Amino acid sequence: MITGKTRIIGIFGDPIEHTLSPLIHNEAFQYLGLDYCYVAFHVKKDKLKEAVEGIRALNIKGVNITVPHKETVIQYIDELSEEAKDIGAVNTILNKEGILRGFNTDVNGFILSLKEEGISIKNKKFLILGAGGASKAIVYGILKEGGKVYIYNRTLSKAIAIKEKFKDHGFIEIVEVDKSLTENIDIIVNATSLGLKKDDPMPLNPELIKPKHVYCDIVYPETPLMKEAERIGCKVIGGIGMLLWQAAFAFKIWTEVEAPIDIMRKTLDRVLTKG
Ligand SMILES: NC(=O)c1ccc[n+]([C@@H]2O[C@H](COP(=O)([O-])OP(=O)(O)OC[C@H]3O[C@@H](n4cnc5c(N)ncnc54)[C@H](OP(=O)(O)O)[C@@H]3O)[C@@H](O)[C@H]2O)c1
Repeated sequence: MITGKTRIIGIFGDPIEHTLSPLIHNEAFQYLGLDYCYVAFHVKKDKLKEAVEGIRALNIKGVNITVPHKETVIQYIDELSEEAKDIGAVNTILNKEGILRGFNTDVNGFILSLKEEGISIKNKKFLILGAGGASKAIVYGILKEGGKVYIYNRTLSKAIAIKEKFKDHGFIEIVEVDKSLTENIDIIVNATSLGLKKDDPMPLNPELIKPKHVYCDIVYPETPLMKEAERIGCKVIGGIGMLLWQAAFAFKIWTEVEAPIDIMRKTLDRVLTKG
């Protein structure tokens, strides 16, 4: 029940109608009897500054930040966590008595989605496809955990920018993708946006995927290349785990309560299987 005491949490993005975050968080608040309500706000680029000022003005407890605002929002907030500062992107804001602190929970969201599947990261060789916003968080997380990054992107300059940003954090090399490379790789990650639309090309030629690879896709629910990797006999990890765990970390930041991960997972499964 929404009362005069209910605290608001939200998400800013453009577009925003497709977001699953209100469903996951509201179900979790209800399950734990926490007096919060999570709402999606459609915030266009030219209104981001006012929207962030609105967090303070309306005493909103916190927000998630999604495409296209994760980087530009930084100029409007007061403090950054170490990860958000290193990556240069924020996906979660906490309003602590008018001071806005930015976090990046995509990093640990991705790492936990691997660890919960029993995948170790240290010294493993990762082929990262893509060099957009999500790729930055993933590369940072892998390097922090002692993994090795081989990165490919259609637009070379963006891969170069990621290498420059993180070269002091561990092993990172820009690559062209061919058989001699993939033979040497342990874990392949699709961090491009390919796989959602029907006519998308594959982010990687499936012939380069072998049963020894772990195939990981951050696009959800299930992409054609995930199906192909499963058919080949790989261990396959989809994007739902990352979505779930980044939400769980944000939940803890706002409420200081452990997120009910099983409830959140069930909610996602229910919504996604309904289509
Ligand atoms: N599971 C989760 O929790 C989670 C979290 C964050 C994001 N995501 C998903 O991850 C995807 C990427 O997000 P993002 O924020 O990183 O997007 P982004 O910043 O727009 O980056 C998109 C990436 O995809 C590549 N790409 C797009 N179209 C391509 C094509 N036709 N051929 C080759 N490469 C292409 C881009 O390459 P260029 O640089 O050459 O354009 C770029 O590397 C989205 O689908 C998003 O929904 C999932």
